[in-house]
Amino acid sequence: MKKFAVALLALSCFSGVAAAHEAGEFFLRAGSATVRPTAGSGSVLPGLGSFNVNNNTQLGLTFTYMATDNVGIELLAATPFRHRVGVGGVGEIATVNHLPPSLMAQWYFGNSSSKARPYVGVGVNYTNFFNEKFNSTGKGAGLSDLSLSDSWGVAGQVGIDYLINRDWLINASLWYMDIDTDVKFKAGEERHSVSTRIDPWVFMFSAGYRF
Ligand code: NI
Repeated sequence: MKKFAVALLALSCFSGVAAAHEAGEFFLRAGSATVRPTAGSGSVLPGLGSFNVNNNTQLGLTFTYMATDNVGIELLAATPFRHRVGVGGVGEIATVNHLPPSLMAQWYFGNSSSKARPYVGVGVNYTNFFNEKFNSTGKGAGLSDLSLSDSWGVAGQVGIDYLINRDWLINASLWYMDIDTDVKFKAGEERHSVSTRIDPWVFMFSAGYRF
């Protein structure tokens, strides 16, 4: 019985010392990242509506380094997102891939022994678009040579880490990214450029591991 009590005491001591967010710690989170664009643009061509872009979910990864017990530096990476692009009045006309790596400076509330660490972050997003293709509807409408310019913009985030034990945590976070692009294409022989905002919300649910 005495041994059991000692074991219990040791266990409660350990669980009291969560400490995954201490100066010098490095951790990795992996989970689902869903990009939900709040897309908008001017009229794509006379008589047509604006661009719309559907949601997409990919594997999201964050790499975080704790510079102090409260200040983190985080890099967001993901497998390429793939979106279907539509135009009001026409329907889906194209597909586009992109990668939106973001570098964030973060503030974690609480202290290194807290089990829950809510945080806020602000940083910079770079989005690279690739594999831009009109589908048969787009081609049938006489559209070709689609390309989207890369985007630099501000990103903001809120999130929370909940420590399961000293090494593992679960996380939920919400990001807003200012992503704007010029959509260039040809309609027949005529070149067009339509400035378009993607400005997505990104939802991430992940598990994290401390190294
Ligand atoms: Ni914007």
